[in-house]
Amino acid sequence: MIKAVILAAGKGTRMKSDTPKVLHQIFSKPLLGYVLDNVKNIADESFVIVGHHAEEVTKFVEKHYNNAKTVLQTPQLGTGHAVSMVCPHLENFDGQVIILCGDTPLITEKTLKEFIEYHNKNNSDLTVMSTIFENPANYGRIIRESDNTLKCIVEEKDATPEQKLVKEVNAGIYCLNWAKVKPAFSQLTSNNAQGEYYLTDIIAWGKKNDLKVNAYILENSDEIYGINSRQNLAAATRIINERKLNSLMENGVTIVDPTSTWISEDTEIGSDTTVFPATYIEGKNKIGKNCKIGPCAHLRGDVEIADNCKIGNFVEVKKAKINHNTNAGHLSYIGDAELGSNVNIGAGTITANYDPISKVKSRTILKDNVKIGSNTVLVAPVEIGKGTNIGAGSVITKNITEWALALTRAPLRVIEKWVKH
Ligand code: UD1
Ligand code: CA
Repeated sequence: MIKAVILAAGKGTRMKSDTPKVLHQIFSKPLLGYVLDNVKNIADESFVIVGHHAEEVTKFVEKHYNNAKTVLQTPQLGTGHAVSMVCPHLENFDGQVIILCGDTPLITEKTLKEFIEYHNKNNSDLTVMSTIFENPANYGRIIRESDNTLKCIVEEKDATPEQKLVKEVNAGIYCLNWAKVKPAFSQLTSNNAQGEYYLTDIIAWGKKNDLKVNAYILENSDEIYGINSRQNLAAATRIINERKLNSLMENGVTIVDPTSTWISEDTEIGSDTTVFPATYIEGKNKIGKNCKIGPCAHLRGDVEIADNCKIGNFVEVKKAKINHNTNAGHLSYIGDAELGSNVNIGAGTITANYDPISKVKSRTILKDNVKIGSNTVLVAPVEIGKGTNIGAGSVITKNITEWALALTRAPLRVIEKWVKH
């Protein structure tokens, strides 16, 4: 049995934000969500250590992850102190614990599995993940003995000039045989530059107590990139996006311009779909085969699009289910909607889904073969029956039956020679 401990109590001072660091988002998913998603198939239970803005972080965890618990750490006395908070919850636990940081969202499930396999194969009691960084600044350095075995981890702020030259850094991810390493957490001290109880000190503790301590060196150092600043957040977003675009292209999706296209990890796209430039797709979505998306489309999550659809330029879609062969080519907003197959949405169509007085959002339902004329406002809740046509420029405020023509339009007035007079 494996338990996960995710450190998420720190303030994240360098973000200069009122939002706790681990709730900063990449494609509208908090950093902590990435970490929890990556451990959910590995650990049967996760403990998230919360402190700074604990209520907000707890709310997020409770809403989205039912096998995760939050554990409060107040005050926050360092990463070692943070892990010690789970001791009462794992009193008689005899399995493995993997420790991760809530601010390291790029780690993958595949790497974590390899990491644990390495730990097991080497009969380790304690394994730390490391990697080589050309620019190791701000990370803890892995210090080795002359025979290359691990000695300890030294934080940047405590490092000597020679230690600062070491390029092997601590990823902040650990696997431990809990029963063996648990005593360390009552023995850590805070004699260091930051006056904190460092989790990193468990390496030296393990050595001193004759445990088998190893490092797993990760080749793809991108994965352990930690988010400490807004610059880091932007760089991580770019990495997650590149990964996604590459995997989509490998699976038969055309991305016309990868430098201007943004697609969240949680978006599935079928083969032979083309995504045109300047398109932004966030949240969880499923797009079928042979679709054309963009240029300049914005999909905001909970969007399901079947095969052979077209979502064109300046079209925003959220919480919508769109059946096959349906087109919304230009300048439209489709939110909280259900569109049948063979529907055509004319340019400038808006689903007016939100009543700002009652703050209620309502749904628009368009049955198969509906044709909506340009510049129509569909005031939800509203349902348009199968095959019905709506004339251009209409404001539709009630349900319309099938195969009808509906339009609201002031009569056209033409005053002959008015300009000349
Ligand atoms: C930490 C490691 C460093 C490693 C780096 C990798 C320590 C002492 N240092 O440094 O060796 O290279 O991560 O990214 O462990 N947190 C708590 N409670 C606390 C303090 C921190 O939960 O009292 C959480 C933070 O919210 C964060 C994580 O622990 O998610 C790491 O803390 P942070 O301050 O970012 O440590 P680093 O300086 O990055
Ligand atoms: Ca960090």
